[in-house]
Amino acid sequence: MTKKLTFLGIETSCDETAAAVIRENDQGTADILSNVISSQVKEHNKFGGVVPELAARAHLENIEYIIKTAFNKSKISIDQIDGVAATAGPGLIVCLTVGLNIGKSIAAFSDKPFIGVNHLEGHALSPGLINKIQFPYLLLLISGGHTQFVIVKDVDKYEQLGTTIDDALGEAFDKTAKMLAFNYPGGPDIEKFAKLGDENFFQLPKPIINKAGCNLSFAGLKTAVLRETKKINNNVNLKNHMAASFQKTINKILRKKTRIAVEMFLKKTNKKNFQLIVAGGVAANKSIRENILSLSQEMNFNVVFPSLEFCGDNAAMIAWAGIQRYKKNITSELNLTAKSRWPLDKKAPYMKGPGLKL
Ligand code: KG4
Ligand code: ZN
Repeated sequence: MTKKLTFLGIETSCDETAAAVIRENDQGTADILSNVISSQVKEHNKFGGVVPELAARAHLENIEYIIKTAFNKSKISIDQIDGVAATAGPGLIVCLTVGLNIGKSIAAFSDKPFIGVNHLEGHALSPGLINKIQFPYLLLLISGGHTQFVIVKDVDKYEQLGTTIDDALGEAFDKTAKMLAFNYPGGPDIEKFAKLGDENFFQLPKPIINKAGCNLSFAGLKTAVLRETKKINNNVNLKNHMAASFQKTINKILRKKTRIAVEMFLKKTNKKNFQLIVAGGVAANKSIRENILSLSQEMNFNVVFPSLEFCGDNAAMIAWAGIQRYKKNITSELNLTAKSRWPLDKKAPYMKGPGLKL
């Protein structure tokens, strides 16, 4: 019987300070021995978004306590772990550096292997924490910083099919929520108030819906929301109608683009029985879940959503990605530095900025 690996994971790429201790189990998934998350939501709420310097300071203040708590809860000591994984990018450099440095120090002083993890790979592999997943699968990653369709061929082997050419989907939720004076992060409030509104009240644009394959765009939608919200004047009913109309428009865009991505996946892999994994913070949205689930029934594929606990940023997914990389003998040097940009598919074209042809 091969040894079951136990890893410490550390995540500080944005506004969550997180640490987790997880162990492989006999089912090929993970036992979550601890999964500790300290969210800075309250600190950023008054600014309607993440303020990098404040986030970095909060990580510095919390990280030691969060890691200690993760060890205490897991009833595992440093000498019993097999390695340390910390997020090394993409994200805010000042934030990433906090978790990365402490991860490297723990690995160095305890003489354990160190793995610098791509945050996106953490999300991409996160369903494997709970469900046994078969490669290749199609990933729809929808988070605050990223929106992409990717073929996950194996650990460290990704092919991007499409991405946003401007805002990330979570960003679109957050900016719309800010215009409606809802809380940060905006997704949960938009979802809550959408239930009270009329989704057909506002007619909003669906940018590049009929072009550019499964690439997506939300900037024009945001501008349209801005134009309409100027007329809303804090009217509660109109705000609810806007939340509902926005969410409905997003669902229409996602359904069309997911359909195209599935068709591309089928053509490229010839794999009829496959899974679509929907990961990232926005995957917590129930109306999006229902929408993609109904598309999966129509197009006959399986769809998997990570449990809510693992949809948003967490360190269990970083520890899990670390274990998967370690098993493939991919470890990092201790002089590894944080990266603000780090695409999963290194060959994917950069889809932002002037001169982009669709
Ligand atoms: O994956 P995540 O925790 O952090 C990043 O890596 O970005 O995603 C955070 C994003 C935020 O934009 C937040 O508004 C969005 O996920 N989100 C939601 C919901 N819950 C969180 N968006 C829509 N509906 C939700 N229920
Ligand atoms: Zn994330």
